[in-house]
Amino acid sequence: MLVPESEMKWASLRPTPDKYDFTAPDWMLNFAQNNGLLMRGHTLVWHEALPKWFPETVITTNAERIMSEHITTVVSRYAGKIHSWDVVNEAINPWDKRSDGLRNTPWLKLLGPKYVETAFRTAAATDPGAMLVLNQNHLEYDTPGDEATRNATLNLLRRFKKDRVPVHALGIESHLTSSEPRFNANRFRNFLKQVADLDMKILITELDIDDQKFAADIAERDKIVAEKYHEYLSAALSEPAVISVLTWGLSDRSTWLSGYKPREDKLPVRVLPFDSNLNYKPAFHAIAKAIDGAPDRTRQR
Ligand code: G3I
Repeated sequence: MLVPESEMKWASLRPTPDKYDFTAPDWMLNFAQNNGLLMRGHTLVWHEALPKWFPETVITTNAERIMSEHITTVVSRYAGKIHSWDVVNEAINPWDKRSDGLRNTPWLKLLGPKYVETAFRTAAATDPGAMLVLNQNHLEYDTPGDEATRNATLNLLRRFKKDRVPVHALGIESHLTSSEPRFNANRFRNFLKQVADLDMKILITELDIDDQKFAADIAERDKIVAEKYHEYLSAALSEPAVISVLTWGLSDRSTWLSGYKPREDKLPVRVLPFDSNLNYKPAFHAIAKAIDGAPDRTRQR
């Protein structure tokens, strides 16, 4: 399954307030269709990757129209052709210290907390058959911050279920990190179960792990990275509501972590299932093993 890492964000799609440039995502969808692959939509509403014109153009009186028009234009263009949409990205951020846990984004400042619900309702009205996803980071670790993110996410999803807001799945980004050893499989599984109990599906949407703090030796580093993938996915896949696993990129040749979490020793990062020559790495086999070991999903819906 393909996911455009940048090409469907506002900064790429919206060169000016009244123009759309679909060249890159059109190309990608065509490639996917010609090669028997599915494609995800990423992402309709986010606080990052906004175009330069955004701050001077979008104001409280036009923000809802501009957001809704964007969603309607993009979703209708690809209606019926996208596996699932990340409708709102990283909406929760307890570090912003709001009582509802919502991130204090430009959208929230312009439209208030209701922008999340509005975005989902607009996407559903445009393509009623689409799988709509709330995509969220910082849900994985047994840390106070991630625990607060899990709680705020559950509160939001529960409220959405009660109010019949069309959210069909939670996307768990899963950018794991070598800096954080506190992963508690039981606690994480318990969270997944609580999401599943809301009749929502779960997608692992952006899985990777930086190798900043791991050994320099390649064999040793690859082994640790592989073990981390296996540990995490074994926990995640034990919950049958988890229907997809996507890594954030395929090969070490091209990963955002080279820029975001480079190694102090300047060695190239080794964070994805394939190396920079597209050879299988232990991480690939670890992911395959976790999938092979997962409970059977074929008897489900
Ligand atoms: O395409 C332009 C190019 O024309 C320009 O010359 C160049 C100069 O900076 O920038 C290029 O755009 C870059 C784009 O990636 C494509 O490579 C942006 O600067 C850069 O900011 C952008 O970074 C992406 C980032 O999201 C922001 O959109 C990363 O590749 C992408 O991995 C990252 O992905 C996010 C997810 O969407 C949400 N979750 C977290 C994840 C990691 O931050």
